[in-house]
Amino acid sequence: MLTKNAAGVAARKRLSMTVNGRAVEIEIDIRESLLDVLRDRLQFTGVKQGCSVGECGACTVLLDGTPVNSCIYLAAWAHGKTVTTIEGIAQDGKLSPVQEAFVEEGAIQCGFCTPGLVLSTTAMVESGHTYTHDEVRRELSGHLCRCTGYQKIVEAAERALRDAESAVDESPV
Ligand code: FES
Ligand code: FES
Repeated sequence: MLTKNAAGVAARKRLSMTVNGRAVEIEIDIRESLLDVLRDRLQFTGVKQGCSVGECGACTVLLDGTPVNSCIYLAAWAHGKTVTTIEGIAQDGKLSPVQEAFVEEGAIQCGFCTPGLVLSTTAMVESGHTYTHDEVRRELSGHLCRCTGYQKIVEAAERALRDAESAVDESPV
């Protein structure tokens, strides 16, 4: 039976979603953010909590492949959707090409902003579009970094995009 809040509205809901390739079912309070459910209840601690008001990008996850700030996204809205957190990016213990690019370009210091940036860059790579320098900067503009500096971050994203394009060019027709 559903619990109701003071206004008589059902306050709990059964949420089904796919997280990093695995089906997840969990009962949530309909007011819970996706960040709270992923980080505090499902222990995906790679989803970082920074500002909590949609300004820093630390809590970014991919929702059906699109970056969203999970702190201002209700978990209930993720019902039936596919969520990717940073824990779902490396495969078989091997860093993804985007993660490799961040390491190679020295785009990581404390790493607090890195999961969100890697996920937004992954979304760009997976879109298959070609991005200009300004477009890369615009796509990453919702992410705040307190230590590395944005130059290296943009260089890492551009490297990942270049590497992905080369891989497509070299694939057999
Ligand atoms: Fe979500 Fe800052 S914690 S945008
Ligand atoms: Fe520390 Fe970006 S590397 S906040």
